[in-house]
Amino acid sequence: MTLGAPVRVGAGWLDQREAADAAARSKNLADLLRRHLPTGRPIAVHDLGCGTGSMTRWLAPRLNGPQHWSLYDVDTTLLDLAAARATGVRAADGRPVTVETHRLDIAQLRAAQLRRADLITASALLDILTASDLDALARACIEAERPALFTLTVIGQVALTPPDPIDRVVTAAFNAHQGRLARGDILLGPDAVSVATSLFRRSGADVHVRPSPWRLGPPDATLAAAWFDGWVGAAREIRPDLALDAYIDRRRRELAAGRVLTVVHHADLLTFPRR
Ligand SMILES: C[S@@+](CC[C@H](N)C(=O)[O-])C[C@H]1O[C@@H](n2cnc3c(N)ncnc32)[C@H](O)[C@@H]1O
Repeated sequence: MTLGAPVRVGAGWLDQREAADAAARSKNLADLLRRHLPTGRPIAVHDLGCGTGSMTRWLAPRLNGPQHWSLYDVDTTLLDLAAARATGVRAADGRPVTVETHRLDIAQLRAAQLRRADLITASALLDILTASDLDALARACIEAERPALFTLTVIGQVALTPPDPIDRVVTAAFNAHQGRLARGDILLGPDAVSVATSLFRRSGADVHVRPSPWRLGPPDATLAAAWFDGWVGAAREIRPDLALDAYIDRRRRELAAGRVLTVVHHADLLTFPRR
């Protein structure tokens, strides 16, 4: 059962990260998926937690043939942006891509809805769901017997180069923040991929997992700095006792000067129903 509000995300942050997300998502899984989709008729895709529609902009041009995308989110401002920004998106072969939007909380998702899809997608969603939301989502996908692609789930590992001993302390605190209690349940945070993998495997589904890290170098200094502030800010929220001021100043200076390579690890998961 859903208690309280789902995690909200601003369009500004989604815009900032879109190029890094596009570079990070697994092309290998997109290729594998393409081979399993129907041909000779339009494809229906249901994208869950669509934000401003970056998954449509990334995946639609990698699939052939006309496509109809149903975009779902709790946030109507993001849904309006997603609809507006889908104009002009085309399939790999130039065929049209149409969209419709729905305000929906994942907790309310039912298999009957997903049976209208050929493919279910979500990006940067699983780690901000509660354990019961992910359970509802996996159950609906399994019952609907459709392939599902879940990209860019954080797995609790980051690597800043050159390293600093405090990085590990902040990583541990950030992961604890990700897995905090919310909505009367725990958020899955870095455990989301392993939990989803076991839920799908237990149903007999075929599950493929690939790494999809952000690799942020000097050209991505603005995104890396914004990511760092969010990361360290979340860590501080849960561990206000940590003395991080000097570390934050040092890292901010290094990031602004493009002297740090920031790797934020994620995983992409593609699942096919049991045959
Ligand atoms: C990190 S954003 C990712 C957005 C988009 N998929 C992307 O990759 O840019 C997570 C999205 O999930 C939505 N969301 C969070 N919890 C949700 C829930 N319980 N039901 C539906 N949408 C949810 C948020 O509103 C937000 O748009």
